[in-house]
Amino acid sequence: MPVIRLTDIHKHYVVGEEQIRALDGVSLTVEQNEYVAIMGTSGSGKSTLMNILGCLDRPTHGTYELDGNDVTRMGAAALARVRNDRIGFIFQSFELMPRLTALKNVELPLLYSRTGWWGRSARARAALTKVRLADRMKHRPNQLSGGQRQRVAIARALINDPAILLADEPTGNLDSRTSDEILALFEDLHRSGQTIIMVTHEPDVARHAKRVVRMKDGRVLSDLSSEQDVRMNALPAMPISSK
Ligand SMILES: Nc1ncnc2c1ncn2[C@@H]1O[C@H](COP(=O)(O)OP(=O)(O)O)[C@@H](O)[C@H]1O
Ligand SMILES: [Mg+2]
Repeated sequence: MPVIRLTDIHKHYVVGEEQIRALDGVSLTVEQNEYVAIMGTSGSGKSTLMNILGCLDRPTHGTYELDGNDVTRMGAAALARVRNDRIGFIFQSFELMPRLTALKNVELPLLYSRTGWWGRSARARAALTKVRLADRMKHRPNQLSGGQRQRVAIARALINDPAILLADEPTGNLDSRTSDEILALFEDLHRSGQTIIMVTHEPDVARHAKRVVRMKDGRVLSDLSSEQDVRMNALPAMPISSK
């Protein structure tokens, strides 16, 4: 059973007289433990797709099955539970709570579960240790570097052992050395079985994934292994014959 099965997903917006087809018939299947990069120019529908995958938004048409459950038919409360328990999010801007320590930030998703305070703390400590921040648990976000903040966000995203880890431009605010650290961490997570879907516009970042889905005008333009994608997209431009 695939982790994700999207069938003919549409997301339309009406702005004034205009109808915008942010997604215009996307069908996509992602198996367990895949590591997928989503690429495409600005406005091609990447974030809209991530918001639907993350159950932050609902499609206008089409079905989305997550772990075999049709989430497009769920009510708001059930959807909120899926979002909290089955999905881990990482954003370009980290989205940590500024007043909370790293530990308290990572504990947040557990507040909605039945885990008691001691269990919450123990699990958050373990998650922070996994991202090599055992010595920064009591620091607040503004006392951490960008890479450290993103590692806190990753620990928080993983705390409920999600079916999918969704990352929208996770290295967009990081320098190249720190980006490499985050990508190495993703590599470890992938090796340990985590399913990962990451949006990026940087070919060097996309190359770390095993599969590359390219979007254009709300549709899937290509869906290739990363080796094939590099071959298709890194070809030198054909010289224009001069006759
Ligand atoms: N809330 C919205 N209302 C109207 N149009 C939107 C909304 N969100 C996104 N769009 C439009 O949908 C298209 C896809 O946007 P988006 O998914 O953010 O693209 P990307 O992340 O690839 O840059 C764009 O044309 C954008 O302007
Ligand atoms: Mg976007």
